[in-house]
Amino acid sequence: MSHDPMNPHLQSSADPSRSSEEIRQDFLQFFQAKGHEVVSSASLVPEGDGTLLFTNAGMNQFKDVFLGTGQRSYARAVDTQKCLRVSGKHNDLEEVGHDTYHHTFFEMLGNWSFGDYFKAEAIRWAWELLVERWGLAPDRLYATVHEGDDDFGLSADAEAYDLWLSETPLPEERVLYEPSKENFWMMGDTGPCGPCSELHVDLRPPEARQETPGRELVNVDHPQVMELWNLVFIQYNAQTDGSLEPLDDQHVDTGMGFERMVAVLQGKESTYDTDLFAPLLKAMADRSPREEIRGYDDLHIEDDDEHEQVRIALRVVADHIRAIAFAISDGVMPSNEGRGYVIRRILRRAVRYGYQTLELEEPFLHRLVDPLIEKMGGPFDGLAEQQEFIEQAIRSEEESFLETLDTGIEFFESTVRGIQLVREMEEKSHVPEHDYELTPLKLQEKLSREVIDLIEKAYVDSGSHNTALDSFIATARRGYFPGQIAFLLHDTYGFPIDLTQLMARERGLDVDMAGYETLMERQQQRARAASDFAVDQSDVHSWVTVVPGDETSVFVGYDQNTVENAEIRAAREVKTEEGRRYEVELSRTPFYAEAGGQVGDTGTLRIGDDEVRVLDTQYEGGHIVHTIDTPLGQLELKRSVVAEIDTERRNRIRAHHTATHLMHAVLRETLGEHVQQKGSLVAPDRLRFDFSHFDAVDEDTLRHIERRVNTAIQQNIPKQEARDVPIDEALDRGATALFDEQYGDRVRVITFDPDFSMELCGGTHVDATGEIGLFRFLSEGSVASGVRRVEAVAGKAALEHVESELETLTRARRQFRSLHTSLPEAIAEVQEERDRLAGEVDQLRRGQLSDQLDTFIAENAASVDGITVVTGRLDRASMDDLQELGQQFRDKLGEGAVGVLGSVGEDGEKAYVVATVADDLVDDGALRAGDLVGTLGDRLGGGGGGRPSLASAGGRDPEALDTVLDGVPALVRDRLE
Ligand code: ALA
Repeated sequence: MSHDPMNPHLQSSADPSRSSEEIRQDFLQFFQAKGHEVVSSASLVPEGDGTLLFTNAGMNQFKDVFLGTGQRSYARAVDTQKCLRVSGKHNDLEEVGHDTYHHTFFEMLGNWSFGDYFKAEAIRWAWELLVERWGLAPDRLYATVHEGDDDFGLSADAEAYDLWLSETPLPEERVLYEPSKENFWMMGDTGPCGPCSELHVDLRPPEARQETPGRELVNVDHPQVMELWNLVFIQYNAQTDGSLEPLDDQHVDTGMGFERMVAVLQGKESTYDTDLFAPLLKAMADRSPREEIRGYDDLHIEDDDEHEQVRIALRVVADHIRAIAFAISDGVMPSNEGRGYVIRRILRRAVRYGYQTLELEEPFLHRLVDPLIEKMGGPFDGLAEQQEFIEQAIRSEEESFLETLDTGIEFFESTVRGIQLVREMEEKSHVPEHDYELTPLKLQEKLSREVIDLIEKAYVDSGSHNTALDSFIATARRGYFPGQIAFLLHDTYGFPIDLTQLMARERGLDVDMAGYETLMERQQQRARAASDFAVDQSDVHSWVTVVPGDETSVFVGYDQNTVENAEIRAAREVKTEEGRRYEVELSRTPFYAEAGGQVGDTGTLRIGDDEVRVLDTQYEGGHIVHTIDTPLGQLELKRSVVAEIDTERRNRIRAHHTATHLMHAVLRETLGEHVQQKGSLVAPDRLRFDFSHFDAVDEDTLRHIERRVNTAIQQNIPKQEARDVPIDEALDRGATALFDEQYGDRVRVITFDPDFSMELCGGTHVDATGEIGLFRFLSEGSVASGVRRVEAVAGKAALEHVESELETLTRARRQFRSLHTSLPEAIAEVQEERDRLAGEVDQLRRGQLSDQLDTFIAENAASVDGITVVTGRLDRASMDDLQELGQQFRDKLGEGAVGVLGSVGEDGEKAYVVATVADDLVDDGALRAGDLVGTLGDRLGGGGGGRPSLASAGGRDPEALDTVLDGVPALVRDRLE
């Protein structure tokens, strides 16, 4: 962890603080300026190359060009390629974490010449970039060249040797001849290959360099004298018999380890100290509940060994999350097979390190996807776009593994204790005076019941208790971890064998692999014999291959609704909250998997004599997954399958999808180009479409849009479908693309009149718009600020909708008994009648109330100093009613009178009063209505006010109303005094 600003690896002109982003960009631009086409990284899954599990070098995607079977539009290329070296010829998994510069996933920067320039330029430019551009000290660099190989019939690459001397200032003692093992590069056992030249850097401090010359440390795995860049001069095609067939053209293929280069340029001792890994290491250290782990460089652990264990764990996880997330983003899901199994193993390895060393007992890996995307989402497509999916995939895998990990580890530990015990006893038995022999019985006395049980379970085939212990002792004596137990760990607890090996190695033990493999083989035979399909109980979420074949199935549903001869590639059962779900993958399928808003197809699969329903079809990491209604165990999965979708349902969906396109075009035409699709549902019964627009779309505009869509339908515009169009070309032609959608290099374009609707789309559509028949809006509303949502129906669903509306109308007519007058007229009549009646009712009610006023005057009058005081209580009169009645009351009372009316409101919660004072009294100045209601309002728990002649009050104490009214004469007396 050198933080020295004066980077010792560099000349002083270099800038040691440059970021990994800048370095990557620098490389690409350097070669771009030399006429190289910048190409994107290929997928981690090599396309159409059965010889390779994962992309392991930048040249994989150009293999066909080297062999002369493919062509590109450019003769020079530059890129950064995602690589995974975890299997096959190039496998670094075991080293990862234990040293500070190996990785499973890494980026390889490369420049290529396809029959264009050759050794001289490749060598000159490599020097120019490293020394002149990036400022590496020339006296720390070594070049190697191929020394020749009799087996290949090749002489030494003197041409390259001379070029290093003529094109660069390297002196002879720093150009080294090396054997084929180091300097003849092959992608695999066959294929493009050639002699290569490598550039190595010596990063040791001056004293060490004085002591041992760097040339002695090249290619001896010294952590500070390492290869930076490999320049391969591709000239041959290796044949299966080992011979080399010369190629027509000579090519250049170079590969620079990006992470290492970043470490060198940033003056770090390890790739893990660079900005590429810092966010991941930090996120993990932050999550660990262990107080002492503050950060990768900030560990408060005293014990050196434990300290190193923590750093190893942090490195393993930081490395592995990159491999896992990138693999999933390229469509590889953790599984029990092939690529998926490699990823599952890496994931479980990471979980185990997190769990045991960092004490992360909850799923944590998926939380690292976010910091990873922050760092790598820019240069690489597919990560950010699939973030949620990647997180979910990792999380569910973590959860299922964590469930068994704890028990598995305990099991492992008990076994190790058992082995240690055997070995201790064994040692004792070697001491002559002890006269001691190790027997199953003696072992049994020493071992716990629990370990004995485990051993018996693992050695279930051995027949008896004693033979099981005997076998255990025999293996343990030799210092091996029993293969039987490794198998049980795999079978029951989901421990990949390399995980068990790794844990055993940490305890100084090797796993008895022969024993393990015998059991694996036997299990596979049993599974094959027993049935077509065996559910792996320990992990019901994993796919089981039924008929091996390509990883992904072919969708043929654009052209056909039935596939007569499909195979079930893989099947699985998934445990869900509701029970079990059964899923299959087909070699070829007409079923559309839900995408782009269009729901998945349903239909039937005929498997041998059985017919099962397909309930739904979904995409999962590029796979088309059919959910069926029948348990897999009941089916003969190896039989050929007739797959047929529900055509009627699909037709309804197609109508809605095309209608969505037409409507989208009209919305943009009518409301403006700011209209962007924000969400879409294309279902058999309706369509839903969310789009950016701020105001509500009014009725008239909706009707206008609807008419325009229906006009386009009546014009019967034929569909033009173009598959496999380069994305740039499609966009140039003006096709509508969704803003936040991720498209591949080649796209499908659906057009209904190039001047009207052209969209990038993977969905299914009608052949001509006339098939839709009719389009109707159902609703318009808002979903979020600036986003409107419409729902609509098209095709049969629209006809059904209109039919049902008409039916309602007919029923309404019948109810109005007006089949012959128009309905609006009938409704207007009814409304008029209703208004008239309401008016009458109102009048009657007022009449009643007014009569009540007369009753009050007759019955409730009191006299106070010659003034008539009348009070009365009305029921359920509002404040407005009271105001109006108060006026009437005042008129009825005439000169010299005071009136007070009270009421409890409709809701029973409030009381109102209105007080009136005759004009003569007001003029006298003796009484004012406003004063009276002030007190009355107070007594009702509220307040009021108004004119001297009429005022009102309200309060929150209806119970008090009667007392308040009774108290009015006394109040008037008080006022007069
Ligand atoms: N293809 C060469 C390598 O992978 C550059 O090292």
